[in-house]
Amino acid sequence: MLRICVIQTGRQSHLCTPVRRFSQAGTRWAPLVSQAVMFKDYGKPSEVLSVVSRPIEPLTPSTVHVRILAAPVNPSDINQIEGVYPAKPTFDPKWGAVAGNEGVAQIVALGEAVQRTSDLEVGDWVLPLNRAFGTWQTYASVEASDLAKIPHDQVPLLGAASLTVNPSTAYRMLRDFVDLNPGRYIPVTTTPLTRDYVIQSGANSGVGQAVIQLCRCWGFKSINIIRDRPTAADTMAQLKALGADYVFTDEQLRTIETRNQLKSLDGPIALGLDCVGGRTTMELGRNLSSSASLVVYGGMSKRPMSLPVSLFIFRNLAVQGYWMNHWYRTHSLADRMPMWTDLLKLMQLGQLRPAAFEPLLWVPSGDRMDAVQQLRTVIEAIQASSAGFAGKKHALVMDPSLL
Ligand SMILES: NC(=O)c1ccc[n+]([C@@H]2O[C@H](COP(=O)([O-])OP(=O)(O)OC[C@H]3O[C@@H](n4cnc5c(N)ncnc54)[C@H](OP(=O)(O)O)[C@@H]3O)[C@@H](O)[C@H]2O)c1
Repeated sequence: MLRICVIQTGRQSHLCTPVRRFSQAGTRWAPLVSQAVMFKDYGKPSEVLSVVSRPIEPLTPSTVHVRILAAPVNPSDINQIEGVYPAKPTFDPKWGAVAGNEGVAQIVALGEAVQRTSDLEVGDWVLPLNRAFGTWQTYASVEASDLAKIPHDQVPLLGAASLTVNPSTAYRMLRDFVDLNPGRYIPVTTTPLTRDYVIQSGANSGVGQAVIQLCRCWGFKSINIIRDRPTAADTMAQLKALGADYVFTDEQLRTIETRNQLKSLDGPIALGLDCVGGRTTMELGRNLSSSASLVVYGGMSKRPMSLPVSLFIFRNLAVQGYWMNHWYRTHSLADRMPMWTDLLKLMQLGQLRPAAFEPLLWVPSGDRMDAVQQLRTVIEAIQASSAGFAGKKHALVMDPSLL
């Protein structure tokens, strides 16, 4: 059953329009009202989500007020609402938890100590450093130390909004497991220039698209597996336009012709990346070269992965899991910034494009029915992405003028 409720606090003028009023001293703000997608209990998104307009915490010396500009809808956000994701949000006893784990925000006000001691300024674009931040809302109050300032010149809005999950996951998986060869000539032998290959499932996912583009930027070759579909040729063409060297459907991967083609490549398939599980993991594993690594980072098929024992014994296959959240928990801002700087530079150069997103406008209008319609749109987007073959990712966009 679809349960949609819009909770209002204060006067109508506070429902959706942020009210900012200075005191005579010019230092205090009237309550800033945020319109948020919230949940009080875990469950099906269509049953537990509601739109809530509530005042955010007043500014303190160490906090800043931010306006969220855009926030993607990732599979982990949906799993979090369902209660099956290990990173749990904070539930306010009165309001519940705000959905959404990542996004980009703009500073609208700075606490007194922040003004004196940091380089943050009103207008800066920032990323939340903590997962489960609650990005599906229009405004938030946050400790300045929980934000990272990023450049935004020439950076696409949705590129910045989706930086911390998909491209960062692709970046780490390509760097942290295998020392991939981008094509080195070995002079003492007659070996020609060879490059390492990466094979991945879910190649049309947000992570998959970032993997393809980073492989192209860094000199690795990519073999990309998608699920079969009537429009497979279009999806293949889109991935090739991003820089994919090979694209196969899962059906094609099972054929002897494809197996032979992959056996005769000019370099080893040294790394496999799997976000699907089930039989797909086995098909990826079978095509990996000797002593390769297989990194499992998602289970979209919701099926246990299966791998033949022989791959471990005779081909020395190494299988590991990867979770970006764990990396963030164990790495400081100083570790994160070089990665984000690299990725942002590639975005500025146009070499790393964000996945294709359908924007969901989340612009408070003051009209209750608009809020109801907005929530319905978000829930439909969640349902579409959970059903598979979505074709596009979705993102809440609070300022469409920046698209
Ligand atoms: N471990 C980590 O740190 C980490 C970080 C980021 C993402 N992830 C995981 O990586 C996966 C992709 O995330 P994303 O944000 O890139 O997702 P996304 O852009 O929303 O794409 C979803 C992908 O999953 C595929 N898919 C959907 N249902 C499927 C099914 N039943 N069987 C097989 N494939 C299916 C889709 O292919 P179709 O077009 O064929 O439906 C698409 O390739 C998710 O499992 C996510 O949780 C993990």
